[in-house]
Amino acid sequence: MENNQISVKQILSLKGKRKITMLTAYDYPLAYLVDKAGIDMILVGDSLANVVLGLESTTQVGMLEMIYHSKAVTRAVKNALVIGDMPYESYQVHPEEAVKNALRFIEEAKCGAVKLEWFDRCLEVTEKIVKADIPVMGHIGLTPQTAEKQGGFKVQGKDADAAGRLIEQALALQECGCFALVLECVPDKIAELITKKLKIPTIGIGAGPYCDGQVLVIHDMLGLFERYKPKFVKQYVNLSALIQKAIEEFKKEVQEGIFPDKEHSFTIKEEELKKIRP
Ligand code: KIV
Repeated sequence: MENNQISVKQILSLKGKRKITMLTAYDYPLAYLVDKAGIDMILVGDSLANVVLGLESTTQVGMLEMIYHSKAVTRAVKNALVIGDMPYESYQVHPEEAVKNALRFIEEAKCGAVKLEWFDRCLEVTEKIVKADIPVMGHIGLTPQTAEKQGGFKVQGKDADAAGRLIEQALALQECGCFALVLECVPDKIAELITKKLKIPTIGIGAGPYCDGQVLVIHDMLGLFERYKPKFVKQYVNLSALIQKAIEEFKKEVQEGIFPDKEHSFTIKEEELKKIRP
């Protein structure tokens, strides 16, 4: 079978040429549509916890859920680079387990790369995974797995010191071998500065227009998640409203005997029916 999968090398080569697109997906039907639309990268994000599993925190999903959902995504995808988001417990609790868990995303789930969020031993862990020949996408700025340590879900890098730390982290991750970097909730001008300083692409979410690419959580941009809506989310369609309307119509039609009608039913010939009638 011909392999049309976008490679890490191709993603790197897009910097400065055209904007890179990335969306999350967690299951076969949405991954199929995202890939068919020609999106460059699909992230099986640990945002799965919030938008699919109804959990409060992304730290509540583990390898079991992430591998299960990554497999569903890679089954559907022909072209996009699929990235498995490493869950908190897979590399932050016991960093020595990180390489083993990253390998599971590649070998079991057939992802092309992994992503991990910044934490205090991030450089050491990233280096180990890159050395094992596994492409790594970094993630700095707001890092939801450790948001409590950052004082909550807030924009990061808002003063010169904090912005300086972000720039240092970005350069260090590039040095460690990351092929791209997610910048989450960072002032637009700081994201621009980082983007200009790096040779690797930056993918922004709540980081303004100057990044090399953009990512959104698919349930947010499709209007499929109503619990909260961050300022940076643009909702391209309100699927919740459409789905709700369809479900209510189904309920009404069943209750009123309108559905199923002839068009949606099967028939048997009258002479066959007569044979079984008493
Ligand atoms: O888990 C996720 O969806 C993410 C994106 C917000 C980048 O990490």
